[in-house]
Amino acid sequence: MNGIARNFMLLALSFLFLGVVVGLYMAISQDHAQSTAHAHIMLAGWVTAALCALFYRVTEKAALSRLAQVHFWLQAPSTVVMTVSLLFLYAGHAEAETGAAVGSVGFAVAVVVFAFNVVLSFGET
Ligand code: HEM
Ligand code: HEM
Repeated sequence: MNGIARNFMLLALSFLFLGVVVGLYMAISQDHAQSTAHAHIMLAGWVTAALCALFYRVTEKAALSRLAQVHFWLQAPSTVVMTVSLLFLYAGHAEAETGAAVGSVGFAVAVVVFAFNVVLSFGET
């Protein structure tokens, strides 16, 4: 695995580690206030980015496209901003709502770019 697929997998693994730390913290402290942040770290971070990595691993034309770079550089910072903001939000910092909103919109745009790249790859190998 290399190129864009490797980048997405490294991004995904970073979220997996962060999500496990937050999950263990909740389990040990028995304070589940971060449940929603943990859910998005795991699903928007780990699972979504890992699926993108696997898609680019099996679809070479899409992996080499400029759109794949645009997709990665939208999704990576957006997911970081969204999930870190959620951690602050659920720790009681209401002002982190702005970061969550900005990150979420960035993430949504990244998803649209990804969808375009997937559709453009139909019929290719
Ligand atoms: C060391 C591993 C993990 C630990 C210790 C852990 C711990 C927790 C805890 C304590 C909660 C809160 C439960 C509640 O309040 O009802 C939670 C919720 C959640 N976890 Fe994990 N988790 C782990 C791994 C994962 C993984 C690998 C995923 C997904 C890929 C995941 C997805 C979720 C989701 C989606 C929720 C929210 C569920 C809901 O809305 O009720 N977790 N986790
Ligand atoms: C633009 C991106 C996203 C936004 C704005 C968003 C927003 C939200 C909101 C407002 C909630 C309710 C939280 C609450 O009850 O306090 C939620 C819950 C949830 N979302 Fe998302 N979400 C996004 C992306 C995703 C993605 C990509 C996934 C899965 C792949 C996902 C999975 C979930 C799950 C499992 C829950 C219930 C977990 C819980 O609250 O404990 N979300 N989301």
